[in-house]
Amino acid sequence: MLETVDLTKQFKKHLAVDRVSIHLLEGESVGLLGPNGAGKSTLISLISSLTKPTSGTVRLFGKSIQDNLSELRKVLGVVPQDIALYEELSAYENLQFFGRIYKLKGRELEERIAHNLGIMGLDDRKNDLISTYSGGMKRRINIAAALLHNPKILIMDEPTVGIDPQSRNHILESVRMLNREKGISVLYTSHYMEEVEQLCDRLYIMDHGKIVASGTKEELKAILSGDDTLILEMDRPNSAFAAELREMTNVRQVVETEKGLKLIVPKQSRLLHDILHTAESHQVDVVHFHVQNPTLEDVFLHLTGRKLRD
Ligand SMILES: Nc1ncnc2c1ncn2[C@@H]1O[C@H](COP(=O)(O)OP(=O)(O)OP(=O)(O)O)[C@@H](O)[C@H]1O
Ligand SMILES: [Mg+2]
Repeated sequence: MLETVDLTKQFKKHLAVDRVSIHLLEGESVGLLGPNGAGKSTLISLISSLTKPTSGTVRLFGKSIQDNLSELRKVLGVVPQDIALYEELSAYENLQFFGRIYKLKGRELEERIAHNLGIMGLDDRKNDLISTYSGGMKRRINIAAALLHNPKILIMDEPTVGIDPQSRNHILESVRMLNREKGISVLYTSHYMEEVEQLCDRLYIMDHGKIVASGTKEELKAILSGDDTLILEMDRPNSAFAAELREMTNVRQVVETEKGLKLIVPKQSRLLHDILHTAESHQVDVVHFHVQNPTLEDVFLHLTGRKLRD
């Protein structure tokens, strides 16, 4: 239904999106994961035709969006990363404003506003000024605005960052409902692996402007099927120790965690002895140590060398 072909965006010196080819099928829910600066928002703005690509194309139902802009506006609902609402208007008035952009009016507009306020659970607050809303409530109004024209595709750019748990749960549940029950196709950008695991049929992992992996959760986890994750808890952080571990052959990744370090290593590698020996030479006390199967977060770490949240 929607696809990008070798999509590229170069800002002066910076290659923000580098030959990205992704697709979204009808009824699918697809996650786009990537650390800060990976190029996710730029990709979304190319797909929504807010930014012109340096090269490559975006196709909607097989046709380039450049030749199909009115169709794109009709089928696409975009929830931007930054909240875009008028603070001194009520939620209801904001939605009226956005509805009119889509040429909705009269009874139909009223009904759509009521319906989407209901989905977002804010019907009872509709006459309050946006300036009195919490961040999570504003985000929900932003989503309601993106849904007013009944889009077939919903693109969401990190809709749950920095909001209260109640709004977060509400957003996740409504996105799931829109996808499963209303058949809306969803492209969902997030830093939160657990959200994407819950919501999405398939994932793309993006880093430095490129798609570095894609597939279902199971397919992505299989990337590390020959590896283990080692969790080391230490009495105190020691970056020289971490740096030396990074240099060891067979150690694929080392990342600092709250209590110590996480390492990705091949299964059955006899590294434990070397690791403990290295710890000793740095006077590091390893207070706890265990091995676990790699999670999707670990796959991400392996592919990008970074944690999802910096
Ligand atoms: N208008 C612009 N002009 C120049 N550089 C830009 C512009 N927009 C984005 N960039 C750069 O492109 C890169 C990708 O930015 P983008 O906002 O797409 O990342 P992101 O994955 O959405 O990150 P985040 O998770 O922080 O939202 C960054 O290095 C950013 O500085
Ligand atoms: Mg972004």
